Amino acid sequence: MLNTAELKTSRTTGPLVELVKKSFTGRLQSPVAQAAMLEVQNVSVEYGAGRAMAYALEDVSVAFRPGKLTLLMGPSGSGKTTLLSVLGCLVTPNRGSVRVLGNDIAGWSESAKTELRREKIGYVFQAFRLFRALTAMENILLAMELSGRTGRQAREAAEAALLAVGLENKGHLLPKEMSGGEKQRVAIARALINDPPIILADEPTASLDSKSGNQVAELLLGLAEKQNRLVVVVSHDNRWLPLCHRKVVLQNGCLIGDDMTRNTTGKLGRVSRLSV
Ligand SMILES: Nc1ncnc2c1ncn2[C@@H]1O[C@H](COP(=O)(O)OP(=O)(O)O)[C@@H](O)[C@H]1O
Ligand SMILES: [Mg+2]
Repeated sequence: MLNTAELKTSRTTGPLVELVKKSFTGRLQSPVAQAAMLEVQNVSVEYGAGRAMAYALEDVSVAFRPGKLTLLMGPSGSGKTTLLSVLGCLVTPNRGSVRVLGNDIAGWSESAKTELRREKIGYVFQAFRLFRALTAMENILLAMELSGRTGRQAREAAEAALLAVGLENKGHLLPKEMSGGEKQRVAIARALINDPPIILADEPTASLDSKSGNQVAELLLGLAEKQNRLVVVVSHDNRWLPLCHRKVVLQNGCLIGDDMTRNTTGKLGRVSRLSV
């Protein structure tokens, strides 16, 4: 027996199914509301107190579906990293709600949120955050250990993660022996170890040259289009525009734009690559 949520998104058809589907009209009309996997509503984040109080985010509502790469743009200081941190359950907003896979996480303990993050959200930090003394493979194994996975199985999963980012022959290298693009791909591999449906990446190409930037961009786009994951990329870099499905724009902590830029049938071969 289908439940309501399944019925709403089901491809099954028939007069009764259509009748019931129509009864959801309104909610169904919004493509985002149809199957939001990650959602914030009326979220505000404040820093400082009293007269020094400033909004990093002010009353922001936005929802994301799987299979899409969303570009989160805006000038420096507009709240992009703060919004990504709220979406990644790393920062708790002062007001508003955060829903991850249908769960409102208000009131969740830190350990419950940590577990949710580990299982469902791959977060790629701007500055790679790799341990300098550990090889690429060890950096990934460390993250797996923190998730309670060790031994041969962990090693095989780490090898698969390196293969997924095209670094299967570079697992033995230290960060200082890798290019910026390679380090960023290790950081992405590490974010993929638990096979999370949600990938959040903060300025993943900011410090990369054109070629490495392309590799990272194609990788993230593939995670959305080929693997149906939800991918949100923060960048103030226009080079991302031809690659994203949707562009969300922040300014002074407020959401000022939200456009679908192309549909999911766009193949990499037919869209322009990042170029400097
Ligand atoms: N930990 C913090 N303490 C105080 N202010 C902060 C902190 N983090 C961010 N801010 C402020 O919040 C605003 C948004 O920051 P951020 O989300 O990092 O912007 P962006 O990523 O778009 O550059 C900025 O004005 C910034 O100075
Ligand atoms: Mg930032």
